[in-house]
Amino acid sequence: MTKEVNIDIGGGSKAEYFSALASIKKDELFIVLDPKKFKCHYVNIYPSLQPMRWGATQNWELPFRSRSVDRAHLNFVYDFISAWGLDELPYQKLISSLKRVLKPNGQVFVREPKIPLEILREFFEREGFVISESVRIEKQNQTPTYASFIKWAKKDPVGEQQSIYFPMEFVATLAPQ
Ligand SMILES: C[S@@+](CC[C@H](N)C(=O)[O-])C[C@H]1O[C@@H](n2cnc3c(N)ncnc32)[C@H](O)[C@@H]1O
Repeated sequence: MTKEVNIDIGGGSKAEYFSALASIKKDELFIVLDPKKFKCHYVNIYPSLQPMRWGATQNWELPFRSRSVDRAHLNFVYDFISAWGLDELPYQKLISSLKRVLKPNGQVFVREPKIPLEILREFFEREGFVISESVRIEKQNQTPTYASFIKWAKKDPVGEQQSIYFPMEFVATLAPQ
């Protein structure tokens, strides 16, 4: 049976998020994409954890076949992706590529602080994805960057919940064409 394919775009050189998932779900594939050199010893422990040194620059085309990916994760990468071009263009190109590589009903898990999260909802909606509500990130779904944002949100004079740093998530599902 073919394994379900999960990708983590900008998953970090230590691949912490997918290492945790690969330790629980042994029958799925977990591919971590990041331009940095990987320093993750879990790749020797979990065969389903696969680092791929990849950093998008110009066209943001993901290195996968069409309709081959079940789930994609975009955890706190908006700033990094936007830094590659004017405005939101690079992120929109990435969404187009996600549309190509995802299987029908494939899902994208988007995690960001409040402000970019609301902008990103619109981008995905415009591309025909079905969007869930934005909710607080569950305890077991934390990433290293999540911890930094929570720390800043706690220090924010407006209060943690109202803070622009407060990290949240939504799921975008690719409706079958
Ligand atoms: C703020 S970190 C987030 C790491 C992790 N996803 C987390 O939640 O802790 C942003 C990540 O994006 C990666 N990155 C930077 N430029 C990138 C590019 N052009 N394509 C893909 N990933 C990139 C960085 O190397 C870094 O690991």
